[in-house]
Amino acid sequence: MKRKIAIIGATGMVGRMFLTVLEEHGIDADYELFASSRSAGSTLTFFGKPYVVSELNESSFAGKGFSYALFSAGGAISEKYAPLAAEAGATVIDNSSQWRMDPTVPLVVPEVNPEALSSIPKGIVANPNCSTIQAVVPLKALDDAFGIKRIVYSTYQAVSGAGQKGYQDLEDGLCGALPKKFPHPIAGNCIPHIDVFLPNGYTKEEQKMIDETRKILSRPDLRVTATCVRVPVYHGHSESINVEFERPFTLEEVYRVLEQKEGVVICDDPKNNVYPMPINAAGTDPVYVGRIRMDDSVENGLNFWCVADNIRKGAALNAVQIMEQLIKGENK
Ligand code: A2P
Repeated sequence: MKRKIAIIGATGMVGRMFLTVLEEHGIDADYELFASSRSAGSTLTFFGKPYVVSELNESSFAGKGFSYALFSAGGAISEKYAPLAAEAGATVIDNSSQWRMDPTVPLVVPEVNPEALSSIPKGIVANPNCSTIQAVVPLKALDDAFGIKRIVYSTYQAVSGAGQKGYQDLEDGLCGALPKKFPHPIAGNCIPHIDVFLPNGYTKEEQKMIDETRKILSRPDLRVTATCVRVPVYHGHSESINVEFERPFTLEEVYRVLEQKEGVVICDDPKNNVYPMPINAAGTDPVYVGRIRMDDSVENGLNFWCVADNIRKGAALNAVQIMEQLIKGENK
């Protein structure tokens, strides 16, 4: 019998990318697409066929036999409906931040900590925050090689990370309209404010990067700090990453380690103006790393620049890779 898969938030920015990636990866299944009452009854073309979108409700999962449910409809929807999907027997892969820091919920980037998938007590696996996913892929390789002591993140994040409304704010803002999603115009601007402010002065996005990096790398005491900035780019998050290591290293060793890391593509030829940029990363799968150089202001310090498509590796692709990893395990 064909496996059944539910997609929740199928009409959204990440939801539509779930469909694209599932098609690209040829994951054959009986799919059911869910969204809010606003788009219930609309159709999405998927695997060349029209799929009617259903309204998500409390009886969407019971008795339906879903093996997997991919969620990307926001934290409140995941809080309420992910446990219902799990109770009905599905393994939930949740793109919201709702379950990420629950100690019983694995937070997984398949190239980094696939072993965390060996125990899924709540039936929920969390997909990490987009800016964290792309950072930890190269950082894991570097941590294994040289031992990370401290990380300083500075991000330059695309508007698509704020969903369709964020994307629309940039499009409309370029024509002079006032913002609806962001607190300030994003066209021609940089906004050092992503998600809500916390009592410690950090934004929730910054705190997510700190907490999730520690959890994914299994380094609960790792020193990490972050500043997250929204920039007028449609697709692709960019990050300046400054790292201090326990052990000395050479740049040649860094190149060798990163070249061997699955999911990383080095793009670093400054003499020819070659470095990662969101305009090139958009629509592709890898995490691009460039501008690799020593930070001589500290002992064993390194700077690099890291770019990835935030809706692909930062969200939908990573979630589908988690599901593929679980499917592989089923067949063992
Ligand atoms: P809808 O299109 O019906 O509003 P984005 O992050 O790109 O804005 O997408 C959010 C996704 O979450 C959309 O698919 C949206 O559906 C869905 N969503 C929002 N609210 C609900 C809800 N109450 N129930 C189910 N899906 C929802």
